[in-house]
Amino acid sequence: MSQTRKRKIVINTGGGDAPGLNAVIRAAVLCSLRRGWEVWGIRSGYDGLMGDGTGVLPLDADSVRGITHTGGTILGTSNRGNPFKIALPDGTVEDRSAQVVERFHSHGFDALIAIGGDGSLSIAKDLHQRYDLPVVGVPKTIDNDLEATESTFGFDTAVATATDAIDKLHPTAQSHQRVMVVELMGRYAGWIALYAGVAGTADIVLVPEIPFSMEAVCQKILSRESSGRHFSIVVVAEGATPRGGELVVAKDQGPGREVQLGGIAERVAREITRRTGKETRHLALGHLQRGGQPSARDRLLSLRFGAAAVRCIEAEDFGKMVALQGGSIRSVSLKEATRRIRTVPLDSDVLQTARDLGTSLGD
Ligand code: F6P
Repeated sequence: MSQTRKRKIVINTGGGDAPGLNAVIRAAVLCSLRRGWEVWGIRSGYDGLMGDGTGVLPLDADSVRGITHTGGTILGTSNRGNPFKIALPDGTVEDRSAQVVERFHSHGFDALIAIGGDGSLSIAKDLHQRYDLPVVGVPKTIDNDLEATESTFGFDTAVATATDAIDKLHPTAQSHQRVMVVELMGRYAGWIALYAGVAGTADIVLVPEIPFSMEAVCQKILSRESSGRHFSIVVVAEGATPRGGELVVAKDQGPGREVQLGGIAERVAREITRRTGKETRHLALGHLQRGGQPSARDRLLSLRFGAAAVRCIEAEDFGKMVALQGGSIRSVSLKEATRRIRTVPLDSDVLQTARDLGTSLGD
């Protein structure tokens, strides 16, 4: 490995965790050390560079030993700390981005690897655009909803966890002749619900991209009933909405933060019982989808992303995000990557496959 200009780089993990974060950190650290660079990590997201925040810690080969297969992030994370919109006790928000940039420079850092989803990568993009901060992004989210990359890491593991849950619901639904409604993550995009729903052979899959009608949902359940199938499995993304209806919000988390979604499965279940008389149970898989060991596919993708981010820094290719395109890793502009959420295209062959298999999409 050739020695390039010595650099001091820092890694940030922001937003909701996803299986594979530690593998990205390991790859970024080892690839940097092999170039003779120094590597640091920010504790608990951008919080570490604000106020009396949690600070930064040096990372060496020992810090990243044996973590490729572990869930979570050894650096910690937060989805409260958007430095452009810090919530104050009086309900207003304050912009502390200049402080983050000042701390970055006072630590003598040369480049930031920002591992995040749409929220954290938008922050990275703004830090680059407004302050010319040398940033490289890595696409993380179990929701798989980032533009410009065919896949984010964490998604494959989340789909496996959700599919396993659906598999486990089948026998109990069948034994009790019940309808089981399971709520999966996916705020604005139904990737997890669709992939796990199809892989787990759910009878009805409801995604944010296709507003559903309760008539269609109940019709499917009743038609199964009349053909002797006395149970049904309904998979619903947390961000799915009935036609003309709204997102089900569990909690407003205040200024500068996304609302917490949750409760659509319960509403759908209640409505199914009311309309069909079928005994129905509901559950939300919740954060189980973010936990566990990353799948082999997610580990590999994470390691590739981490190594590619270091190559971007070496080439001074800043303001970029590493992305999977056509099976290869490329770099794309953070602006392009965060322009909009990547939803399931309505002409997706997976949606078509679901329909062809007789799965109802509630429309
Ligand atoms: O990671 C994305 C996501 O899983 C969304 O699907 C979900 O709405 C959100 O995180 C929940 O995050 P938290 O409970 O950590 O605020």
